[in-house]
Amino acid sequence: MRVGWVQNAPVRGDREGNLARVAALIAGHRADLWVLPELFATGYLMADREALAQLAEPVSDGPTTAFLQGLAVQHGCAFVAGVAESAPEGLFNAAVAVDASGPRAVYRKVHLFDTERRVFDPGTGPFPVVALAGARVGIMICFDWRFPEPARVLALAGAQVIAHPSNLVLPHCQAAMVTRALENGVFTVTANRVGAESVTGMSVAFTGASRIVAPDGRVLSDGPADRPAVAVVEIDPALDRKSVV
Ligand code: ACM
Repeated sequence: MRVGWVQNAPVRGDREGNLARVAALIAGHRADLWVLPELFATGYLMADREALAQLAEPVSDGPTTAFLQGLAVQHGCAFVAGVAESAPEGLFNAAVAVDASGPRAVYRKVHLFDTERRVFDPGTGPFPVVALAGARVGIMICFDWRFPEPARVLALAGAQVIAHPSNLVLPHCQAAMVTRALENGVFTVTANRVGAESVTGMSVAFTGASRIVAPDGRVLSDGPADRPAVAVVEIDPALDRKSVV
């Protein structure tokens, strides 16, 4: 199985441009499963809930899911990608798993980070594991890395690969993912973004360095810290090591 990350630099609010740049980034690369960053189509910082509501979309039939499904059909691949979700129950920092048949699973971020709590509603789980692109793929989002439980729950639910859309701002996650992979015997794919954003009173810089880690803790891929990039590695998801942990 070929699994890859896309590291983009979204322009806040420019969904059309952000999607087009992702399509250009993966053109010419072949992966069975691509992981994209958290909120990859909208950007991260929302001034207030109204600003988020303007950008959020349904994951069942919104433009980002339709875009990913179109690419999945075109390239014969699947995606796990961060989406600003509007739903009757609220506004969520979500990740959607999409293949050529459409959306296959949705996860709403449980551990909202810092100012995200002002605008997003927290997810309540479960952490999903979905059969995707030939593997059992678990989903968590960014700050979920800070706690051992999400990755553990996913591994216990059968995940072989953890897809981890991220917009990282703290320095420790990339290193911690070696532990998350090792302690749970799973592959992890962290897709981070680069660039910086600010709105009144808030500014953040993102750390890039997207990373794939094997169940034995080997780092299979490390992205640059400062520019958009993609990488693909070949893995055998059956080589997860849950029988020994
Ligand atoms: C984060 O959870 N986006 C830091």
